[in-house]
Amino acid sequence: MTDKTSNKMWGGRFAAGPDAIMEAINASIGFDRRMAAQDIAGSRAHAAMLAAQGIITDTDAEAIGEGLLTVMSEIEGGSFVFSTALEDIHMNVEARLTELIGAPAGRLHTARSRNDQVATDFRLWVRDQLDACESGLTALIRALLEQAESGADWVMPGFTHLQTAQPVTWGHHMMAYVEMFGRDLGRVRDARIRMNESPLGAAALAGTSFPIDRDMTAAALGFDRPCANSLDAVSDRDFALEFLGAASICAMHLSRMAEELVIWSSAQFRFVTLSDRFSTGSSIMPQKKNPDAAELIRAKVGRIFGANTALMMVMKGLALTYSKDMQEDKEQVFDAADNLMLALAAMEGMVRDMTANRESLAAAAGSGFSTATDLADWLVRVAGLPFREAHHVTGALVALAESRGCDLPDLSLAEMQGVHADITMDVFGVLGVENSVNSRMSYGGTAPAQVRAQIARWKETLE
Ligand code: ARG
Repeated sequence: MTDKTSNKMWGGRFAAGPDAIMEAINASIGFDRRMAAQDIAGSRAHAAMLAAQGIITDTDAEAIGEGLLTVMSEIEGGSFVFSTALEDIHMNVEARLTELIGAPAGRLHTARSRNDQVATDFRLWVRDQLDACESGLTALIRALLEQAESGADWVMPGFTHLQTAQPVTWGHHMMAYVEMFGRDLGRVRDARIRMNESPLGAAALAGTSFPIDRDMTAAALGFDRPCANSLDAVSDRDFALEFLGAASICAMHLSRMAEELVIWSSAQFRFVTLSDRFSTGSSIMPQKKNPDAAELIRAKVGRIFGANTALMMVMKGLALTYSKDMQEDKEQVFDAADNLMLALAAMEGMVRDMTANRESLAAAAGSGFSTATDLADWLVRVAGLPFREAHHVTGALVALAESRGCDLPDLSLAEMQGVHADITMDVFGVLGVENSVNSRMSYGGTAPAQVRAQIARWKETLE
């Protein structure tokens, strides 16, 4: 197999084989073997089409089709011997096919090049990842919906600047992530629609003089249509970049949620308890239960974003069409995909298993003068103050409570009237956090009724 004098696949014009270093830098078999199934599916579709068009005989096509299935089972069974001298998955498969079926194998590469072959394989591989991403995101959204439903009216502090801002509900906070991951889902689906065109038949770059049927191979491989320009078909990798772009944004969302889980599970917050199944211990501090999965999810955004940047840099300076630089597309995408899928699954598991601590959430919801805005709104609505003045009066009341070391509802009516004479007993009705969240009935607001409506809408959407 490893003919050292020249490469069997392209060595016709070569008198000497490659230097060992050349072989090492050139070979992609170490990683592109992950596209074996896609490569074989592409070759089977191509062979069947060649026969249907009378370009090769049915007998040869059958031998090729059968032989490729044998190769696939050898790869799956682990008995296939991958060769670095044969560079990549395409030539490894074809060489083994030749060993298995002899001469007819040489007809498989008619009207095809490794350029359209690799573009096809890689599209199929990325398409599978987009589908896996869709399932992973859907599962995560379902887990978030369950959390949202069980605590739709549980109060907790809402934050800006990580400072207590206004009371919100647990359900509302969970549903914020549903919206984010929902848009990630949309990006993944959009990318899939755009990328689902077949490069096969673009050949090296210019198309082919053989009477091929590109619609037939496109349909056999589940593509919506063939790519309309052969130069573009072999030379762009924007489909991989769209995947990495969507993956980067999704990883960023996962990372933000992971950061919140790290904060929330700390002894200082105690908003959530993570399950033992998704926590780790410390080898020295026996009391520790660490949110390692969340921390690792938070860290993974770096490598996924890095993959996106790396492939952008690989592509940005390449004149059309194929250049070997493009072989550097795969490892980045493989790594990003592996880590995104892992992060999605880990986040889903953590969300599913975690327990929100209703009491801690409620205690925190009422602290930090979280209903100050409700007080200001009351001064506008009931006492008729302009908002700016109401804001000022409320600020004075907050300062007063702070100096007394108490919360707003703990001030007496007399103390409040000392700041503004028009305040009545009625004000205490808006200082409670329950009232506060219930009053936020504007569309998309935190009132439990609004939250439940959004949960219902999402459940319907997912059906
Ligand atoms: N291993 C190559 C890659 O991943 C396959 C295409 C090779 N094409 C070529 N003209 N050398 O890009």
